Amino acid sequence: MNEIHKTSTLIVHPLGVICDIIRFLLESEFNMDVTSCKTKQEANSLLGKNKYDIIIVATKVPDAIGFDFFKELIDQNKLMPFILVENSHESKLDPYKNAEVKAFIREENLMEGLSEIFSEMLAIDTKNKPEEWTKISLPPLTRFESLPEDVFLELKTGRRIKLFREGDRISIEDVERYTHKGVRNLFLQRKAFLWLLKQIDAVVPAINQNPEGLLKVESSKDQTVDDEECPTFTGPFVLQEKMINELHEKSKDVLIQMKKNKELAKLLKSLNVDRAENAFFRNRIDMICNISCAISKELAWSSDAMYEKLIYIAHVHDLPLIAHPHLAKFQTVFQLELMTDISAEDKKLFIQHPKMAADIVARDSRAPAEAALIVAQHHERPSGKGFPEGLQTARIMPLAALVQISIDFAQYVLENPYWSYDKYAAQTGAQFRGGAFTKIAKALETICKGKI
Ligand SMILES: [Fe+2]
Repeated sequence: MNEIHKTSTLIVHPLGVICDIIRFLLESEFNMDVTSCKTKQEANSLLGKNKYDIIIVATKVPDAIGFDFFKELIDQNKLMPFILVENSHESKLDPYKNAEVKAFIREENLMEGLSEIFSEMLAIDTKNKPEEWTKISLPPLTRFESLPEDVFLELKTGRRIKLFREGDRISIEDVERYTHKGVRNLFLQRKAFLWLLKQIDAVVPAINQNPEGLLKVESSKDQTVDDEECPTFTGPFVLQEKMINELHEKSKDVLIQMKKNKELAKLLKSLNVDRAENAFFRNRIDMICNISCAISKELAWSSDAMYEKLIYIAHVHDLPLIAHPHLAKFQTVFQLELMTDISAEDKKLFIQHPKMAADIVARDSRAPAEAALIVAQHHERPSGKGFPEGLQTARIMPLAALVQISIDFAQYVLENPYWSYDKYAAQTGAQFRGGAFTKIAKALETICKGKI
């Protein structure tokens, strides 16, 4: 019987723990044969004896001088496509970018980066794998301080039993004992495996700080988000049940990711204190999610990434105003100045809050792409009379335009229970005309008039 050819991969990295977590991904997700070593000398010896399809090399190999090792590998043409785990300065890589190096992966994006590259290279759609279980090898499990998820053993009958529980510590002796009994693989539930990959990326920087330490990864069960914290997507528009379910799942992911950022976690926590002012904020977040996602769908701009971005922005754009809810209802400086009880400090905070919120987002490494810029522009206007920059239409991003209109319309609906699009349009006049605004306002009108 012909054996299926397994892609054989050599990892050269000075840290055993990094080798193990890469192995964890490649063996489980791509069914590869993985060998690892820590030095150039060991690598050369292995390369002399074996043939590898892929080599993954760190930029800092202890007995290699600078980047010479890569150059040798390339010049000798010893290697099939290889991927470099980059943890050094980008500019040093420039001379190699046109060589045989297939990809440069940053360590802080290790699991995700490698997954993407190999999914494409091997034409394996890992994102949509239908499996309920993922096969894993035992040695990488010893790298966890405690198991973040339950691990299962498959019996000959095909039935799976729980062998280790979440919280257990697996020692090298455990691995030897089970290997001796002929157990080469264990199983994680697919959902738990995918969760682990994400968590590993988050702890890789800590590995570099403490290479001998164990991986501290949270259980997915610790990260469950109360349904109360998720937006319900109630708002002016009746969204299809399928869309609401999809958005609800997305919002759970968004909130889990946001809570990993201490600054955001603190602000979100204060948002959930049971106060009337916070109810206003939560209600408005719900409305903005409902409106912005509905408009993106109407414009055929919707995708998983788009929904995640809009939900994230709905939560963060006014966070600096949480302690000042009386300011959040204003959309323009003109509206603010009509009030007599607004202090100079309030006005300053109001004008600065888009930038303050954008700075918080910029410090969030897990923020969706361009979220900081969109948040910074959420009070700009096509007339050039917005703030804080007074940008002209051409400088305002289309998504910022979508967010601006969504926030403004949400505020209008909250203040006008008997709302209608025509009354809203009469009040806003030409405020949202020009560039992408016209198209977005038209989409809002279409949805309001029930033409979808
Ligand atoms: Fe705002």
